[in-house]
Amino acid sequence: MPKIQLLPHPDLCPGGIVFEVKRGASLCKGLLGAGVAIEHACEMVAACATCHVHVREGGASLAGPDDEENDQLDNAWGLDAQSRLACCVKLRDTDLVIELPRHTRNHAREK
Ligand code: FES
Repeated sequence: MPKIQLLPHPDLCPGGIVFEVKRGASLCKGLLGAGVAIEHACEMVAACATCHVHVREGGASLAGPDDEENDQLDNAWGLDAQSRLACCVKLRDTDLVIELPRHTRNHAREK
């Protein structure tokens, strides 16, 4: 099973964690299963961009984003070349290093 290293995030995972996710599972479900309260306002149907993550290592091993994901990513806070929607990332055999952006576009939850 691929290992996911989540880098520290001040609110959602201050110490960072490493966990395993079954091949073929979505990264968003894996993060939730590991106890990380990543936002997923559209219930993981690629329609909100609140599950935005940065894939800092291992991203080249993943299937690239489709048009629907790219359209939603345009709305994500802090977009960069390693940005993906966690609900669209399906795990393969390669380990990943993930960073959560400091903010999401879900203003209802912003402090
Ligand atoms: S949960 Fe809405 S786009 Fe991923």
